[in-house]
Amino acid sequence: MHSTGILASTAALLVASNVMAAPSNERRSGQTVVVNQVANPKFQSTSGVLAAAKAYAKFKKPFPKGLKNAIDKQFPGWGTVPANSGSADAGTYDEYYLEPVAIGTPPQLLNLDFDTGSSDLWVFSSQIPAADVAGQLLYNPNVSTTATYADGLSWSILYGDDSSAYGNVWIDKVCLGKACFANQAVETAQDVSAEFIQDPNTDGLLGLAFSSLNTVTPTPQLTWFDNMASSLIEPLFTVNLKHKKPGSYNFGYIDPHQFSGSIGWTPVDPSQGFWTFNLTGYGVGKTVSLQEVDQTIADTGTTLLFLPDEPVNTYYSAVVGAFLDEENTGLEIFPCGAKLPDFAFSVGEYTGVIPGNYMNYSTTGFGDGNCIGGLQSSDGIGLNIAGDILLKSQFVIFDGGASPRLGFAAKHTERD
Ligand SMILES: *[C@@H]1O[C@H](CO)[C@@H](O)[C@H](O)[C@H]1NC(C)=O
Ligand SMILES: *[C@@H]1O[C@H](CO)[C@@H](O)[C@H](O)[C@H]1NC(C)=O
Ligand SMILES: *[C@@H]1O[C@H](CO)[C@@H](O)[C@H](O)[C@H]1NC(C)=O
Repeated sequence: MHSTGILASTAALLVASNVMAAPSNERRSGQTVVVNQVANPKFQSTSGVLAAAKAYAKFKKPFPKGLKNAIDKQFPGWGTVPANSGSADAGTYDEYYLEPVAIGTPPQLLNLDFDTGSSDLWVFSSQIPAADVAGQLLYNPNVSTTATYADGLSWSILYGDDSSAYGNVWIDKVCLGKACFANQAVETAQDVSAEFIQDPNTDGLLGLAFSSLNTVTPTPQLTWFDNMASSLIEPLFTVNLKHKKPGSYNFGYIDPHQFSGSIGWTPVDPSQGFWTFNLTGYGVGKTVSLQEVDQTIADTGTTLLFLPDEPVNTYYSAVVGAFLDEENTGLEIFPCGAKLPDFAFSVGEYTGVIPGNYMNYSTTGFGDGNCIGGLQSSDGIGLNIAGDILLKSQFVIFDGGASPRLGFAAKHTERD
């Protein structure tokens, strides 16, 4: 049932229109905000090799042999030294999208990566040695009149390739559009590892997983969303990522204009801190056969889709010439001219379809005429991950209410 709710706030960044009210139809007051993604003004590599390596690193797993070979050859020094000097082959580059966030008073605007697979809000700061900054915007708490130093708090994140980010913590005002939380823990980096330095326009991360994953010690801090949930109309946010164009994150309401048909809901198990859900089936084409894929996380911060070998093998057996390239990339690849079928998945009664062209992620980077698939085996990571390849095919609702759940719905058209 859609009805118009109360808009206590309109975002500077955009327009919130119709609002889905509480199920009871009671009008709740509260805020909503729309955060439109911005295209990275510099180009970012859409290398499937790099995208896979980032997922292994994020979930603290060693690279498979082939992937290690590909990283060593194509991105030497990745994860160990600042790598801001490499020149880019424009042909292999694509746009990449971020979300603007205002921190402090007066507001300092940074472009953060909204990550439903982690729970720290950490930013490049004025404390990082200049040599380790490659064009990022820096948060400088010294010039914010609302910043206070959180004496005794620190944070650190160790990645699977042994690189890390760490620093101290300031409490400051953090605004997404006009929705502000006055006392947000802002984790300021004092040192960051190369994979972040390589993204000159990622100024940090805004974690949207459950606060139990927050790494601040000795007192873990709440995410911006958890801090804001009670002042939003509904304690939820929606993710509308798009294929090769900017999408949006809406907080506090479900915009009925952003999806068609009905929403398929599925329960979330928050015990590991992630948005963990079960897939009830998958299939090649537009229909599924019912086979559970338990324990899958919805992660906007992971590019590719990682599932168990069975769905992966089922899919690639329908792609002429596809094979697991153990030697050179460690990834599922196929001749770039191959026809790629759609991939269907289900949650509960709902079936979503990932268009076949999303499954062609990038070339291998070896000039061998092969391309890297958007769907890869989760075996080496040990976690099934519904990354952007799946998420951008859907309108997805992250409901952080008392019984957390995810909602999936179809977009009006593939371009939506
Ligand atoms: C703030 O200024 C002091 C004094 O100039 C300096 O030591 C400190 O590193 C600065 N802090 C940050 C976060 O830039
Ligand atoms: C996923 O399925 C397993 C096995 O049936 C079940 O124990 C678990 O609770 C389910 N998880 C969710 C989030 O529904
Ligand atoms: C797959 O993508 C590559 C570029 O990443 C492109 O060269 C190739 O033509 C695409 N293949 C198909 C079948 O669309």
